[in-house]
Amino acid sequence: MAATQEQLYEGIDLDLSWSERDLPECERTKHVHRLHPYLGKYIPQLVEQLFLRHVARGGRVLDPFAGSGTTLVQALESGLDATGVDIAAFNCLLMRVKTAEYNQFVLERELRDALARFERGEGTVGEAPAYVEKWFAPQSCDDLLRFRSLADDYEHTDVLRIVLARGARSARLTTHFDLDFPREPQTDPYWCHKHRRECRPIERADHFVRRYTLDTLARLKEFARVRKQRDVTVLHGDARSVELPGAFDAVVTSPPYPGLIDYHEQHRYAYELLGLTDLSPDEIGAAERGTSKAALASYVDGIAAVLAACRSALHREGSVVIVVNDRRGLYPEILERAGLRLEQRYQRHVNRRTGRRAGEYYEDVLVARA
Ligand SMILES: C[S@@+](CC[C@H](N)C(=O)[O-])C[C@H]1O[C@@H](n2cnc3c(N)ncnc32)[C@H](O)[C@@H]1O
Repeated sequence: MAATQEQLYEGIDLDLSWSERDLPECERTKHVHRLHPYLGKYIPQLVEQLFLRHVARGGRVLDPFAGSGTTLVQALESGLDATGVDIAAFNCLLMRVKTAEYNQFVLERELRDALARFERGEGTVGEAPAYVEKWFAPQSCDDLLRFRSLADDYEHTDVLRIVLARGARSARLTTHFDLDFPREPQTDPYWCHKHRRECRPIERADHFVRRYTLDTLARLKEFARVRKQRDVTVLHGDARSVELPGAFDAVVTSPPYPGLIDYHEQHRYAYELLGLTDLSPDEIGAAERGTSKAALASYVDGIAAVLAACRSALHREGSVVIVVNDRRGLYPEILERAGLRLEQRYQRHVNRRTGRRAGEYYEDVLVARA
């Protein structure tokens, strides 16, 4: 028999509503969680708690909207196997770099060697893609392209490509307060709302390459000390149609929200510099498609199709745990169409948002089963 609304809804879960003091930023962004900026992730401590509540010890977990890999990284910390799917090639690259097992000696030798050669002026610039010429000062452009040419010489090319993307993000001709989705290059000095003074656009990228090479190395080493030896698989593709390896104990995920974020676009510089495949037409809920009636209907179709595919890849008793702010009330229909039954629903107060995204904010955790 279906549960009543009262039985389903368990109100605000204080154990999951951490304050800034309980859970400072350095904890939320520990080790590889801060390997590269990514807008729209959930926090590892929430994922850890969801695993404890809803995933059998030592089990296998699936995240069909794996993004920057929070679920996968936490799975490794919690001793679970994990598979993550994402439509955005950059997100998959980032997840692979976060979750790969490294020979620490080779990793350190390669990263330090690439940096030393870069600082000696080695590497070739070649022809700059139009995007790179537009969005970087001439010196930054040379620095980044030279580092890009060196990255190919190493076994750990992908780690160096993440360093390159991170350096590129910081070196773009943009204001300090509009790093997520800058519209036009900023070529002149400007009044900076973030620093409350006049700031100048970035002119070179060499210091970023140095900083992020060393930071990436330190973060990968730190994670190697806490991760367990479990299997992680990253699948690049559309979660509606990608072939899932099957028999998971649980799905733990945070889906895209309708019309909020363009997930490819936020890392446009990486697609251009690294020549990554762009599958943005298949992104569900992309901001550029808006929130018209038709866009919401297509969002419901998309998420329902993904969850139906996940359901088929779950053990019979497996749970589907979804973290979402469903202010439009779309999820009852989505779950029904995916063949899932809502068993439990609790709310979390997200009270540590600061700056331009400040304000009261709640997230629901929906727990469903086939
Ligand atoms: C809210 S984010 C997930 C963030 C993730 N929980 C984290 O902590 O990094 C949603 C993700 O869904 C991905 N996505 C959108 N449409 C998709 C599709 N059709 N198939 C697979 N992934 C998709 C986006 O690229 C984005 O990375």
